[in-house]
Amino acid sequence: MSQSMLNELMQRGTDLLGSDTAIMCGAMSWVSERNLVSAISNAGGFGVIACGAMTPELLDTEITETKKLAHKPFGVNLITMHPDLMQLIEICGNHNISHVVLAGGLPPKGSLEAIKEIGAKVICFAPAMALAKKFLRSGVDAIVIEGMEAGGHIGPVSTSVLAQEILPALAKEIPIFVAGGIGTGEMIAAYLEMGASGVQLGTRFVCAHESIAHPDFKKAFMRGNARDAITSVQVDPRLPVIPVRALKNKGTEEFTRKQIEVAKLLDAGDIEMGEAQLQIEHFWAGALRKAVIDGDVENGSVMAGQSVGMVKAEESVVDIIASLTSEAEIALSR
Ligand SMILES: Cc1cc2nc3c(=O)[nH]c(=O)nc-3n(C[C@H](O)[C@H](O)[C@H](O)COP(=O)(O)O)c2cc1C
Repeated sequence: MSQSMLNELMQRGTDLLGSDTAIMCGAMSWVSERNLVSAISNAGGFGVIACGAMTPELLDTEITETKKLAHKPFGVNLITMHPDLMQLIEICGNHNISHVVLAGGLPPKGSLEAIKEIGAKVICFAPAMALAKKFLRSGVDAIVIEGMEAGGHIGPVSTSVLAQEILPALAKEIPIFVAGGIGTGEMIAAYLEMGASGVQLGTRFVCAHESIAHPDFKKAFMRGNARDAITSVQVDPRLPVIPVRALKNKGTEEFTRKQIEVAKLLDAGDIEMGEAQLQIEHFWAGALRKAVIDGDVENGSVMAGQSVGMVKAEESVVDIIASLTSEAEIALSR
């Protein structure tokens, strides 16, 4: 009975995604590539390729390779400030991608229409009520509300507050996926009961067998506790860097040094603000690669959410999804 209740609560989410469960694995740069994405979708969840800073050619290849492995639908996450965004959307269209997730701020003019035109559903991040309402008016198909407990780039508000503000007001109007700090099925059940159509998890899937993250990156996750996953500090009020949540290490300090270096270049008039922000974003992409791919978890960026303390072992994607759903079912039956 609780299983049918879980299915019922996830129905709108699974209908939208075309998956068996409304558990999305949020795109994670360097981690969410063909292997993890196909494994998530094949296991009944919904995998999303992280395009990040990939060139259109690289995205083309990644989609081609993912399609060879996946026999269920998967999505593509595009960053709104990517200079080739429109070309990336076109690549998604060439591959008949069913879902595009837009991350990183307001979608530039014409991008939502372009995604609709290729026949894909569009899912946007709404880190505040005003933005959620705006997306609803723009006709996006679903929104993700992601709280500051999440790993990677984060907003200022916690998941529980976003959920309380946005779910009761908008859940009837549009499917909403809750993200940030979800480590167990109990939490999934709670957000579904509040009206969410599904959830998005990142941290919990990093240590999947199918994830290509370096063994040392996975070990750092299995050792880490919630309090180790801290947010980056902004050193200069003029330099509006988006905070990033990652495990504390030398790389965290290196970021502070990088900001001072960029602020000095700004002071000297050597670079403009746009270039300064781009340099910061490139720093993150490089630092994350260093940790995820090379396994340098001391100097690289080990982006992780506060739910990292609930990651205890390397498991298969099938097992992770099975424990999340059975925990949710038990919670609902109580
Ligand atoms: C290592 C890592 C990299 C991430 N990279 C991206 C990214 O490239 N694009 C994006 O939209 N979200 C990114 N995220 C956020 C995830 O997609 C997801 O929303 C988040 O991890 C959910 O919160 P949780 O970590 O508490 O489960 C990243 C998260 C992690 C942990």
